[in-house]
Amino acid sequence: MTHVPAAHGRPLRDTAPAKPPGTLRPHELPGATPIIRFRGVQKAFGKQVIYEDLNLDVFPGETLTIIGGSGVGKSVMLKLLIGLLRTDAGSIQAFGQEVTTLPERELLHLRGKVAMLFQGAALFDSMSVEENIKYPLIEHAWGTEAEMDRRVDEVLEMVDMPGAQKKKPAELSGGMRKRVGLARAIAIQPEVILYDEPTTGLDPINVRRINGLILSLQERLGVTSIVVTHDMDTVFTITDRLAMVYGKRIAFEGTPEDARVADLRYLREFVQGGYGTLDEDL
Ligand SMILES: Nc1ncnc2c1ncn2[C@@H]1O[C@H](COP(=O)(O)OP(=O)(O)O)[C@@H](O)[C@H]1O
Ligand SMILES: [Mg+2]
Repeated sequence: MTHVPAAHGRPLRDTAPAKPPGTLRPHELPGATPIIRFRGVQKAFGKQVIYEDLNLDVFPGETLTIIGGSGVGKSVMLKLLIGLLRTDAGSIQAFGQEVTTLPERELLHLRGKVAMLFQGAALFDSMSVEENIKYPLIEHAWGTEAEMDRRVDEVLEMVDMPGAQKKKPAELSGGMRKRVGLARAIAIQPEVILYDEPTTGLDPINVRRINGLILSLQERLGVTSIVVTHDMDTVFTITDRLAMVYGKRIAFEGTPEDARVADLRYLREFVQGGYGTLDEDL
């Protein structure tokens, strides 16, 4: 467990129960070094300060979930990481490269390795499913038309939507749109996938399906995942570690077991389902 100063200066209790034997998490593997590091990141929009001092490590192969009340800056964090938003100060490193000063051209290359499934899937409504998925393939010069067609077929199979190539987003349910968004995100074979609330607004069957996909991408392809969610079932199903945004920083970083016993009221309430209370607290 990584010790992070608590928002109110209270220490975290270090009494996590022993994990079942043989279940080393990616960050516990010998020699594990972060592939992503946020250090002292500051971000404000005008007078609205979102981050005062954001610090976070992400380890290769892990699924890190990000929790926190609405409007605290979870989506902003993901956008800072891929350079869709720029930091005011501090450092973000990905694959040993400083992201905060990367020129646009190299950000595009970074986004080939770190792909994002946007909140609400963010498909282009006027384009077919196939065209949506091809968009990043074309942007990253994936290959010939035939190779791209094959890749579209492949990723649609992976998200359990074979034959949906010609459909328009408007013809799809919310769950299907999220799965097409996921297919588009994984099409370019990223090493890291950022999921912004992938299960919000979905029925329980689709929630399970998306969580299963996130897990299988990690297990089969060794993908590293950062998942923003406020669904506790999702947290406890897929998480290696979780981090909580609170007080304009990451106020907690640890395993789900750590979170259950952490001596932080807002975290405990969040984990135990007191989301409403948390919002009032902010
Ligand atoms: N591009 C932007 N310009 C101005 N304000 C923004 C921008 N993006 C986000 N914000 C503000 O930053 C805050 C955090 O946003 P966000 O990260 O989307 O929250 P959440 O934690 O719910 O994902 C919100 O108050 C939002 O209005
Ligand atoms: Mg958000």
